[in-house]
Amino acid sequence: MRKKISAAHWKMFKNTKESLAFLDEFLPAIAGHDRDDILIFPTATSLSTVIDRVQDTNVRAGAQTMHWLNEGPFTGQTSPTMLTSIGTTHVLLGHSERRLYANESYEHVNLKLKAAIAHDLIPVLCLGEMLADRQTGYTKDTLLAQMGAALANLPTEKAQTLVIAYEPVWAIGTGSTATPEAADQAHAIIRDDLKNRFGPVVASATRILYGGSVKPDNVSSLLCMPNIDGALIGGASLDPGALAAMVKYKI
Ligand code: 13P
Repeated sequence: MRKKISAAHWKMFKNTKESLAFLDEFLPAIAGHDRDDILIFPTATSLSTVIDRVQDTNVRAGAQTMHWLNEGPFTGQTSPTMLTSIGTTHVLLGHSERRLYANESYEHVNLKLKAAIAHDLIPVLCLGEMLADRQTGYTKDTLLAQMGAALANLPTEKAQTLVIAYEPVWAIGTGSTATPEAADQAHAIIRDDLKNRFGPVVASATRILYGGSVKPDNVSSLLCMPNIDGALIGGASLDPGALAAMVKYKI
């Protein structure tokens, strides 16, 4: 049995004060809920404060991106050791908004992924096709190409902690959630590729999250699918009541 993950991705929303106000409401609402892992990915400026605030709770906090080197003349970047020095446990890598607006390639994601693992950060690798890929029948090819580039030369023993988030670009922030069947099919493609790459043990243990317009009213139908091991939630995670409801989804 894979333990499911409910993950809130705040993108460029909530300053430190707003993050703390969120937690004041959210933490009591999910106290004692240990069925699933709960993650929050706040903005870089709030990360340290959020980590301190969730200490001794069942919530963990992660970064939305990072560089692969430990230091250097890279304006605006944050390094793996800077993240671990404040107690960060997870890092999102390859989100489509980073690929679209920050020119991030899967070759960069590959370097970041290896650096994350080397520093005991759990990478949450984001993948997903564009609408045109889906409409022209290229969903599978796109996902396999993204997996191939992101996971190149990763030895099996390093793949144990990997988490993957399938986020079809056409479903992000659009309200067009993938149907549970379409999402499960994409997850099955990803799991099959994990099996070819790392063998059946890693493939069956790896959590694959779905992201893209997850809301309180569709989370249960997605998470009851056999290959969907959690949700990576953007817009709907900004409200503490909505996130608590999604964390406590019923099957
Ligand atoms: P939305 O839930 O707002 O569609 O965002 C999904 C996402 O990008 C999570 O990483």
